Parts: sequence; structure tokens; C-alpha cells
Amino acid sequence: MADSLLFSPIKIGRLKFINRFVRSATHDYLADDRSGAVTEKQLELYRNLAEGEIGLIITGHAYVHLSGKASPRQIAVDDDSKITGLSRLAEVVHQTGSGSLIFLQISHAGRQTKPNLCQQTPVAPSAVYDPVSKVMPRELTAEEIHLIIDWFIQAANRARKAGFDGVELHAAHGYLLSSFISPHTNRRNDDWGGSWEKRSRILREIIRGIKETCGRDFPVMIKMNATDFLPDGITLEEAQKIAGSLEKVGLEAIEISGGLNEAGRGSVWPGLRSEEEEGYFVPLAAAIKKNLKIPVSGLGGIRTLKVAESFVASAQVDLISMSRPFINEPHLLLKFKSGELKKSPCISCNKCFNPRGIRCAQHQINR
Ligand SMILES: Cc1cc2nc3c(=O)[nH]c(=O)nc-3n(C[C@H](O)[C@H](O)[C@H](O)COP(=O)(O)O)c2cc1C
Ligand code: SF4
Repeated sequence: MADSLLFSPIKIGRLKFINRFVRSATHDYLADDRSGAVTEKQLELYRNLAEGEIGLIITGHAYVHLSGKASPRQIAVDDDSKITGLSRLAEVVHQTGSGSLIFLQISHAGRQTKPNLCQQTPVAPSAVYDPVSKVMPRELTAEEIHLIIDWFIQAANRARKAGFDGVELHAAHGYLLSSFISPHTNRRNDDWGGSWEKRSRILREIIRGIKETCGRDFPVMIKMNATDFLPDGITLEEAQKIAGSLEKVGLEAIEISGGLNEAGRGSVWPGLRSEEEEGYFVPLAAAIKKNLKIPVSGLGGIRTLKVAESFVASAQVDLISMSRPFINEPHLLLKFKSGELKKSPCISCNKCFNPRGIRCAQHQINR
């Protein structure tokens, strides 16, 4: 399978990807809990991923400000003191010499956190109660929105200084940027809410700001919901228009996801068994790709090499994103290439969400 289209290189902006695979952002519960600083365990994890020759590795979501911390032991990019640790993370990936690239995913939790984690009342575009986190967020003022835009720009600049190859904005799964583009959570009627243009303005302002501060050729990609699985959530048509507007301001690539916890249907679907269930967000990604020139990554339960190949060969997507298969086996691609595996052994049981650090529960059972 080494001759698979998936193992052919692709240029994205000024970057050369050694193959079409992306390790989708995966929070690892391994950062220092108090400060969010990078730990030795994370260096080991990322070295291992890079040795597995993944084209692009996207880190777990890094909070741009303490008010946006979503989870215990989450990585932080909230001040300049984090640059040294982050640079070690970028360095271990580059030092493997495999050619893997690394992007930092930058994020703010919005209303999907708890006051004890973010040390204040969680904030959101509008005061819409979150039945999952049981939080009634505080509505952001226009001045605060400008401040948040600046936090994202400064976070991207820290990633650039630390030697990351680019950043990914986390605008999926109900976190702050996702909650801006969703009409379910954004009920504002000022310049930041209402039409799809106004709801997505924050994304364009962040991308423009990053390009101004970090240079036009510093790559920015986005992970974005194209559905919230809610009747009053974002529509595919809106997501298509938003993606087009982001391409115009210099976005380099896009990963399409979906789901909100409160919809009862999130982004990490359990119990996938058949090939037909693989790529559960690929049809949405393919619809978004129709109107774009930039590469689009397909996501959601992709496990089988020939299924992944069919998504790219049929031009539904340009890249293949996976998360859990690389928790199960960071060297999955080497095993695909050698023919040792044709399908990831991940059974989508979701037992890898482990607050003491991600690991595949299947290995503990099997080994
Ligand atoms: C343990 C774990 C942590 C995750 N953390 C993040 C994250 O930090 N940011 C993000 O955008 N998605 C995160 N996800 C979602 C994945 O990136 C991916 O979208 C989802 O798992 C579907 O892909 P898969 O079927 O290949 O796992 C996480 C998933 C898992 C299993
Ligand atoms: S615990 Fe292992 S098998 Fe289960 S979803 Fe996570 S990586 Fe896959």
C-alpha cells in the first residue's frame, strides 16, 4: 500500500506534507495542570507520533487565556512563559527527521467549562444555558470580543516563535469560536451576531490579525462545525459561505467536524463497526470542498485504508484526519505502508478519555 495516493506528498501554501494524513487535535490530559506547561510525557507522545510519519500532527487544544481553559491538564499558550516548553514540543517533532509537521490548535472553551477550571463565570456570545456543563454563561461585551481576538493572535504568534509550522483555530464542538458561528448559541444583534457574516466575523478578524502579526505565509487552518445537530444550529449552507469567506482572508486549509454535547450527538462517535459508518463527517466536508480551492480534510471514524483512499481518490476530500486510531497505534501509517495492517484496530470504545493521560484501553486489555 506504499504506492497509495494517501502516501503521496502534497503542498499546502509554502508547506510540504509528506503524505495526506493528519493527526486531528487530541487533548492528552498530560500538561502540567497548574500552569498548562508542556511535560516530558507530552514530548514522548509527540516524538512517537512524528516517528510514525504522520504528515501533519495537530496538538490538543491549547487555551489562549485561563478564562478559556476547558479541561484538567490542558496545554496552555496564554503567555510568553509557555514559548520555551512549546518550542521543545515543536523541536521533538522536527528532530525525528520524519518530515512530520506540527500545528498548535488554539482554543477558548467559551461556555463549555466550569467556573472552578476557568476561575470565573464562563463567557459566551450570548447568555444561553448549557445543560451539559450546567453553566449559565455571561454575555461578552464588544470590548471583550476585541480582547479575545487579540488573545488568539498573540497565541498564534507564540506558536510561531516556538517553531510550530502553523496553527489551527478550534471553531468546532461548541467551544467559543464554534458558539459564535452557531445561531443556537449566538443570539446577538450587534456586529457580532445575526447574519452568517456577522456571526463569523470573529474568525476573519482573527485570521487577518494572525497574518498581519505572524506574516502572510504563516499557515492558519481551522476545524469548524458544519452541523451542530440542533434544529436551530449552523446549517451546511452557512458553513459553506463561512468557509468561502475565510479562504478569501488567507485560510490555508479546513477540517470539517460537527456536533455539540447538548445535542446529544458530539464529534467522537462511539461503537463504529462497519466501513459504511467510516468518515461520518466526510459528506459535509465534500459539500464544503465544492466551493473552495484550499485543501479540505475529512474526519470522523476513518479506520480502513481503502476507505480513506476512496475518499481522496473520489476527490471528496484532500486530506484524511484521524484521532483515536493514532492513540491506539501512533505508528499506524508505518503498518499501513508495510502491509501489516489494512485497518486500524481501534474499536471506537472511547475509553481513551482518561483524565490521568490518554491511552488506549484496548492495549491494557490485550497486552
Ligand atoms: C481523547 C480525545 C481528545 C480530543 N481532543 C480534541 C481536541 O483537543 N480538539 C479537537 O478539535 N478535537 C478533539 N478530539 C476530537 C478528534 O480530533 C476527532 O475530531 C474525533 O475523535 C473524530 O475522529 P476519530 O474518529 O478519528 O477519533 C478529541 C478526541 C479524543 C478521542
Ligand atoms: S480506547 Fe483504544 S480502542 Fe477505544 S477508542 Fe480509544 S484508541 Fe480506540
